[in-house]
Amino acid sequence: MIATVRTARKLAGEIRVPGDKSISHRALILGSIASGPSRLRGLSPGADVQSTLRCMQDLGAVMEGTALEGCGLHGLHQASGPLDCGNSGTTMRLLAGLLAAQDFESELVGDESLSRRPMDRVVTPLSEMGARASWPPLRVGGQTPLHGLAHTMPVPSAQVKSALLIAGLFAHGPTSVVEPIKTRDHTELMLRGMGASVEVDGLRVQVMSPSQLEPLDLDIPGDISSAAFWLVAAGLVRGSRIRLQATGVNPTRTAFLSVLQSSGFEVTVSNPRFVGSEPVADLNAGIAHNLKAIRIEDGLAAEMIDELPVLAVAATQMPGRSTISGAGELRLKESNRITAMEEGLSAMGADITATDDGWLINGPRELEGARVSAQGDHRVAMALSIAGLIAQGRTEIDGAECVDISYPEFFDHLEYLC
Ligand code: S3P
Repeated sequence: MIATVRTARKLAGEIRVPGDKSISHRALILGSIASGPSRLRGLSPGADVQSTLRCMQDLGAVMEGTALEGCGLHGLHQASGPLDCGNSGTTMRLLAGLLAAQDFESELVGDESLSRRPMDRVVTPLSEMGARASWPPLRVGGQTPLHGLAHTMPVPSAQVKSALLIAGLFAHGPTSVVEPIKTRDHTELMLRGMGASVEVDGLRVQVMSPSQLEPLDLDIPGDISSAAFWLVAAGLVRGSRIRLQATGVNPTRTAFLSVLQSSGFEVTVSNPRFVGSEPVADLNAGIAHNLKAIRIEDGLAAEMIDELPVLAVAATQMPGRSTISGAGELRLKESNRITAMEEGLSAMGADITATDDGWLINGPRELEGARVSAQGDHRVAMALSIAGLIAQGRTEIDGAECVDISYPEFFDHLEYLC
């Protein structure tokens, strides 16, 4: 599909972005091994979360409406064939952890993009826990019990951390992970809410095998990584005023908000509350004033890894040179996001140079509509659409249907807000 985006006059209105993708995956996986029925309201409607749901159903979980029947810690059964994780790295890595600890073998497969993504980062520590695990193709499980492991992660990754914590639920002895920086902690919060013993001490997280996990009763907050697109758009299109209801504001996910605010974006947080263990609030955004160039490096880049493509769009409008570095992991996402955004934004007239681990962007530059490619990557498609809203003329985004991965209503919301 080719999406056509035209210059926006202003963005106005109130929406609720889809349920948080990270929390949705975890709720389906952990709810499936809980000791009874869970209630999951507001799951992400995106294709990635559907991939996790289908895999869990293949393994014996039953979902009807918002009700997910848990099979208990030891109630999953072997799927009749390979488990299809589609485009979803989170599905493949988290399930690798869960399935490495089962007494049957599983094979996990994915689309072309996912088949290229590195899985050794889960396979190696899972093998060290005593699991049978190999890649490529990714095959795990069939050798139990696992033993706990103390693992220091060389690269920050909530997916790897979560895979090991989930495997640790089935291991003899404690399993601990030390992260280089604190990544999203939804797994830890959810496991604790389910009664598991999870200790957090700075960058170290430790889990012990529980006798059972209590079922979940969750209202999943809006995904702040999806909200990010509208916050940037509202800041860059004069006269805008939007509100994003019930968005997750877990502190491990809000680094992007602080960067926007310190570079002149007007984003405010109202009506803060807790929904279960997760903090939620409404986000309000209007036009940015006195924009300042940004400098993002190392740990900070890792804390806002999913928001960097749209931050690059924002940087095209900031006066001076913005530097985004420490984001080499972007090359290993659904596409090589460093080159994908450099190509798309360059075609639209931005002054952007890709580096090994980020971009150098000189602004402000007036953008011009162009024909650009989503490169099969949902976040690239959405970031270039936001660039299209501030560009002169018409922007055509080739392959825009990939927004379905995390945000199927993206273009409906764009039309509504504009
Ligand atoms: C995710 C972790 C991040 C993020 C991804 C979702 C998660 O990946 O980019 O979109 O739900 O744990 P990494 O763990 O590879 O950094």
